[in-house]
Amino acid sequence: MTLDPGLKGARVLVTAASQGIGFGAARAFVAEGARVVVNSSNPTRLERAVAALAPLGEVHGVVADLRNRDELDRLLAETLRHLGGLDTLVYVTGSPKPGVFLEQQYDDWEAAARLLVVSLAYLARKAAEAMLAPGRGGRMVFLASVAIREPIPNIATSNVCRIAIAGIVRTLARELGPRGIRVNGILPGYIGTDRLVDVFADAARRRGTSPEVERAALEGEIPLGRVGTPEELARAVVFLGSELSAYVSGALLPVDGGLLRSVG
Ligand SMILES: NC(=O)c1ccc[n+]([C@@H]2O[C@H](COP(=O)([O-])OP(=O)(O)OC[C@H]3O[C@@H](n4cnc5c(N)ncnc54)[C@H](OP(=O)(O)O)[C@@H]3O)[C@@H](O)[C@H]2O)c1
Repeated sequence: MTLDPGLKGARVLVTAASQGIGFGAARAFVAEGARVVVNSSNPTRLERAVAALAPLGEVHGVVADLRNRDELDRLLAETLRHLGGLDTLVYVTGSPKPGVFLEQQYDDWEAAARLLVVSLAYLARKAAEAMLAPGRGGRMVFLASVAIREPIPNIATSNVCRIAIAGIVRTLARELGPRGIRVNGILPGYIGTDRLVDVFADAARRRGTSPEVERAALEGEIPLGRVGTPEELARAVVFLGSELSAYVSGALLPVDGGLLRSVG
């Protein structure tokens, strides 16, 4: 048996993809021969990402702020214009403001809910409509976090609001499965991106240690003994975003080096 994800010519949108997890996922899809739109909110960073991916295959950049409804509309419209349809949506976002629960203000909750719940649901609906119109079905992959199973200190809004991704995955898998759309989620543990550098720096500041000490302490907790790479995470995204996972829907897959302890 050969493992061909069947992605040649597949039309893929990856959001929040100028760097980190989104960029790694986009690179994996382009390398498999997919036609890919990458999105982010910063034109300079997105341009750099497109330039890095272009030698591998077809890639288009669409600048749009995922927190803004009009920009979500434009993102979908431009994606369809570039690709002529949509087979796979990979939804990644930026991070909400960190902090413990008692530091969060009303506006922080509103911003986090907009980013992690409202925009997510809105784009999922628009993507579903685009997949249903030609009747070909499709695949959606939502990036969440292990925090939805076991809350992580100092990211209170994320712990609370990302749980919506589990709701979206299970709700849409039931509603859209009969119409040929599979919907799954990924729960990354700790993946070595720029954001993780910030996380270690912040933890060191709070505890009066160093980023190296914080990293070593965390890696001591991970059964595989290290943080993951964006490339390792991307393999899971390609699995769920392709026909390699043809009979998987409604799943929430941890990619965390064995970090989660909870059963079920
Ligand atoms: N790294 C981890 O260990 C880990 C683990 C679990 C969950 N996560 C979550 O996974 C997501 C990606 O993480 P990462 O480590 O790849 O972070 P990252 O390296 O900071 O990348 C974040 C990406 O989001 C984009 N972005 C930020 N705000 C945006 C907006 N309003 N609209 C569109 N794009 C936006 C950024 O691009 P621009 O700045 O160009 O807009 C960038 O491409 C985050 O939500 C993070 O909390 C990360």
